[in-house]
Amino acid sequence: MAERRHLISINDLTDDQLRWIVERGAEYSRGSVKAARPLSETVVGVLFRKTSTRTRTAFSAGALRLGAELITYGPDDLQLSTGESVEDTGAVLSGMLDVLVARTAGPEAELRAYAAQKRMSVINAMSAVEHPTQALADLTTIVRHFGRVEGVRVLYVGEGNNTASALTLALSRYPGTELHLRTPPGYGVEKGYLDQAAASAGRSGARVEQRHDLSGLPPVDVVYTTRWQTTGSTKPTPDWRSEFAPFQVDEALMAACPGAVFMHDLPAHRGEEVTGAVLDGPASIAFAQAENKYHSARAVLEWCAADRPSGGVGL
Ligand code: CP
Repeated sequence: MAERRHLISINDLTDDQLRWIVERGAEYSRGSVKAARPLSETVVGVLFRKTSTRTRTAFSAGALRLGAELITYGPDDLQLSTGESVEDTGAVLSGMLDVLVARTAGPEAELRAYAAQKRMSVINAMSAVEHPTQALADLTTIVRHFGRVEGVRVLYVGEGNNTASALTLALSRYPGTELHLRTPPGYGVEKGYLDQAAASAGRSGARVEQRHDLSGLPPVDVVYTTRWQTTGSTKPTPDWRSEFAPFQVDEALMAACPGAVFMHDLPAHRGEEVTGAVLDGPASIAFAQAENKYHSARAVLEWCAADRPSGGVGL
């Protein structure tokens, strides 16, 4: 039996696989994929141990639309809550499910423990350190808006959280892209991700840099932020709000980036990381970005299902 495909980190994808998922998501978004049910005969488990509106609905609706049967688990439904190990849980579920879509509060190792079996694909629907399916939906949104990812310049403002880490890994794979991370001191994207992105950028010709202020902004095509209270995380410093305040995306910041569109992974807190005037303004593509989570989820599920006899994605 072939090993199952897992999407736990952007690092699990080759460049070709990354591009296929992003472009396939864009095809779904355009409505140009002919009706097909590549996940018929497939059972998908959806386990969210943390709150979610977009990701949970995107993968649930996506799996159903592709013909799968669905089982959903709330945060305390499984015997994980009474002390059963993640490894034992993964081993048991793998005898009954084809794909597990999981949001955890833990490190990548927790998802790798679910994946320590040979029969069930595991998809990271957000962990403490990386949110790869968000980055895939973001690149699909960029393709839909700009027609390409190559050469697109992104200013990321705010916490260097799991969304930022995944975006850093993904964007750095594309030639000519620029990612300018402007994060509060002490809240940057971790060095390990920056080092991996630097290695990718060295091959692709991308550029990734991180600073902790908003002076000297470069010309960019996208301004991106996320909410300051990342799901499932807490801040180590009690006065973090004063440290984050200069990093709010407001009209003045958008005016300093003429022609740029605004992206946000949502949920948003208007008046914190972004003003309502920006989020609801003419430059915002945040709600199209949210819908693209559904289109991208179908591409991810299709890719994961492709190693099964009925699958058709050879990459
Ligand atoms: N962006 C995102 O992951 O949204 P949810 O937390 O609602 O899934």
